[in-house]
Amino acid sequence: MQAQKSSDKQLFVGIDLGTSRTSIVSRRGVRTMVRSVVGYPKDIIGVKILNSTVVVGQEALDNHPYLSLHFPLADGVLKETSEKDEQAARELLRHVIRCAEPQADEQVFGVLGVPARASLFNRSQLLKITEETMTMAMVVSEPFMVAYGLDKLKNSLIIDIGAGTTDICAMKGTVPSHNDQVTLLKGGNYIDEVFSHAVAESYPDVQMTRFLAQKIKDKYGFVGEPTQEVVVSLRSNGKPLLHDVTRELRFACETIIPDILESLETLVAGFDPEDQAEALNNIVLAGGGCNMIGLDTALAEGLKEYGKVHVTRVADPDFAGAAGALKLATELPTEYWNQVGDVIGG
Ligand SMILES: Nc1ncnc2c1ncn2[C@@H]1O[C@H](COP(=O)(O)OP(=O)(O)OP(=O)(O)O)[C@@H](O)[C@H]1O
Ligand SMILES: [Mg+2]
Repeated sequence: MQAQKSSDKQLFVGIDLGTSRTSIVSRRGVRTMVRSVVGYPKDIIGVKILNSTVVVGQEALDNHPYLSLHFPLADGVLKETSEKDEQAARELLRHVIRCAEPQADEQVFGVLGVPARASLFNRSQLLKITEETMTMAMVVSEPFMVAYGLDKLKNSLIIDIGAGTTDICAMKGTVPSHNDQVTLLKGGNYIDEVFSHAVAESYPDVQMTRFLAQKIKDKYGFVGEPTQEVVVSLRSNGKPLLHDVTRELRFACETIIPDILESLETLVAGFDPEDQAEALNNIVLAGGGCNMIGLDTALAEGLKEYGKVHVTRVADPDFAGAAGALKLATELPTEYWNQVGDVIGG
């Protein structure tokens, strides 16, 4: 009974720190997603309007005219930071932990996911920031978290398509080594940029922004032969007019495929020959970008010379990473954490 009581004082959380969105799940059942952005009022008027000196998440985006915005995870991990960026990262983490509703006397133990090949420097910088809010934290790679959550720990390949990066990881029944992981800098943001340029080229009068490009992509994103035409209302010289952007959207979404295929080919070759067929049959897509229609088929098609290939998507792209992190946090006794990832506290 006593032991039960002391474990009640521990709150376990899993956090997926993303460039565009951070999700957190807790053992007590909290599931929250926060936009990874922090805003500081530009001047005293903003403080008065918002009644605060700092705003985090969607509220910061909604009030952006009065705020200077910081995206502390712009490249998927803390970028080369200014002091303000580091402060913003602290603020974001504080907010995210608050979302998990820790009680006053509770210790917070958490696993955080970052891009697969995040440099050691970035990982330790991130861990330092957790010191204030967490008793013990472990940083692991994003696709590894997803793999752990799905129990796909051997002979599988996990592809996490986020906003800033696409992370690919080969699972071989051990904690993935450096050589088992690839981080590509082409993710959703890159697609938005390509799409936005492609539309501007086809329709020079259209006012296109990256926000708008993302909105259209999130709704209609696809690769391969279109199943429907993508016709959207865009402002041309100020007036809303319908434009067919099917070709431009396909082109943009397909730009990430060649790099993914090339990385998969390299990672497959890293499995023992007798395991390669099973790994090719066990490719999993995760991250927001996995929602693009036709991506599973296109990847399988691109690898067809390798024999039977099976590509699936996670059922819950928004929380698959954080849920895997929580599973790892609760299943792995804390004394083993430093064998799996970089750890602080404990
Ligand atoms: N239906 C969709 N089709 C295509 N892309 C989508 C869709 N839904 C979301 N996305 C894209 O997924 C990305 C966000 O995914 P996710 O939340 O996994 O990224 P993140 O974890 O914040 O980024 P990273 O892992 O790179 O740090 C955005 O680029 C978004 O536009
Ligand atoms: Mg992510």
